[in-house]
Amino acid sequence: MQPFDTVIRNARVVTAADTFTSDIGIRDGRIAALALDLPPGLEEIDAAGRHVTPGGIDSHVHLDQPTGDGSVMADDFFSGTLSAACGGTTTVIPFACQQKGETLRAAVDDYHRRAGDKPVIDYAFHLIVTDPTPEVLREELPALIAEGYTSFKIYMTYDALKLGDREILETLSVARREGAMVMLHAENSDCIAWLTERLLAAGLSAPRYHASSRPMLVEREATHRAIALAELVDVPILIVHVSGREAVEQIRWAQSHGLKVYAETCPQYLFLTADSLGCDDSFEGAKCICSPPPRDAANQQVIWDGLENGSFEIFSSDHAPFRYGGPDGKRAHGEDASFDKIANGIPGVETRMALLWSEGVRTGRITPQSFVALTSTNAAKMYGLYPRKGSIAIGADADLVIWDEGRSVSISNEMLHHNVDYTPYAGMQLSAWPAMTLSRGDVVWDGEPRGEAGRGRFLPCERPAPAQARRRKTELPL
Ligand code: URP
Ligand code: ZN
Ligand code: ZN
Repeated sequence: MQPFDTVIRNARVVTAADTFTSDIGIRDGRIAALALDLPPGLEEIDAAGRHVTPGGIDSHVHLDQPTGDGSVMADDFFSGTLSAACGGTTTVIPFACQQKGETLRAAVDDYHRRAGDKPVIDYAFHLIVTDPTPEVLREELPALIAEGYTSFKIYMTYDALKLGDREILETLSVARREGAMVMLHAENSDCIAWLTERLLAAGLSAPRYHASSRPMLVEREATHRAIALAELVDVPILIVHVSGREAVEQIRWAQSHGLKVYAETCPQYLFLTADSLGCDDSFEGAKCICSPPPRDAANQQVIWDGLENGSFEIFSSDHAPFRYGGPDGKRAHGEDASFDKIANGIPGVETRMALLWSEGVRTGRITPQSFVALTSTNAAKMYGLYPRKGSIAIGADADLVIWDEGRSVSISNEMLHHNVDYTPYAGMQLSAWPAMTLSRGDVVWDGEPRGEAGRGRFLPCERPAPAQARRRKTELPL
């Protein structure tokens, strides 16, 4: 028998189902054996006493995505994936975004060009459908789904991106027929526009009023509507970046009525609040502008509860990297830009895993198995990458994180590898950080970034099993 390329010894292996002690034998980038006392590998890694989890799958990141408003994303496919790897993530799924008036195919081709030979870790693409013309719905979308782009995002807000209800129905209907997973950004666009107009007219334009312009009810209403539209079409949906109680209540209502409504949340809804956008009119609050906005401590607790009780399938970063300094990030419209002109999004691809392991698992709020499900396994299943990705199992890619626990880590931007000039989590004290990340058996982080640009591979996705419609009995011609 060929020797193993690498053997990780005495790992405390965690999967979404179990924890057990084992050696991990790696050959040709895949897990070839799980047992104690494996024969020697060409490389040996001692993991005695350490948890080893599947590499993270960050299924909601924005990298080098054109914005169309003069702002530029700070991370491309090199810095974004390098940063991900240093934080224990081994697969990212960013978005190929259709521009209105263009084809989806053009967006996909452009995005492959942008990825080029830059990715350090493996990657797939979600699509963003902004212009569901008859041609797009009849020809392009089905063809792209068949080629491995099996998930797409629909926006209910942002003028350049949003779809109306009728367009959402038409697009959901294609997802149902073709077996694709639909992600919904659920905020009521007209309510936001109405509130924004009034806030600005009253001279309330500082970054902190971003939160006032998008109160919880605009998310609740859109979440409710998204669920109703999906119920009508009889198709599963996944509500992304859920921020608090009112949206969670809608999702749990749907789940308790047997609807396949899945949900994602993000670190900003556990660790930031509306106060992070500032308690005065300083521009500094721009650093934490994202949509939906972070809420308050009570809503943070609801999100923790939802992670624990199974309301959420996915914990992603929604990494949307804009620099605070410089002319093309948060200040693209000037230092005194009103909140509605400031690029939405915060960085977080490198901090996601450690935040949840430290503050979720080590505090006893969630189990290690839930951590694995939320950060890796469920994303692999929801987006058609399982079982190659998302688990520690024989035949799976050797995408692994070896954890360093019990030491105190004070988060600072200097320790991170993204190309953003701040982190919203600066100063937080964590009790864990990835000691080592392996991507297909290669060490890409061991305290230093080791991954080469271009080693990451594009992953065409299968049609995800959770995207299968219930096929309920109905009189409607669906
Ligand atoms: O504010 C956010 N979340 N920006 C990123 C784009 C999105 O809607 O996910
Ligand atoms: Zn969104
Ligand atoms: Zn996003």
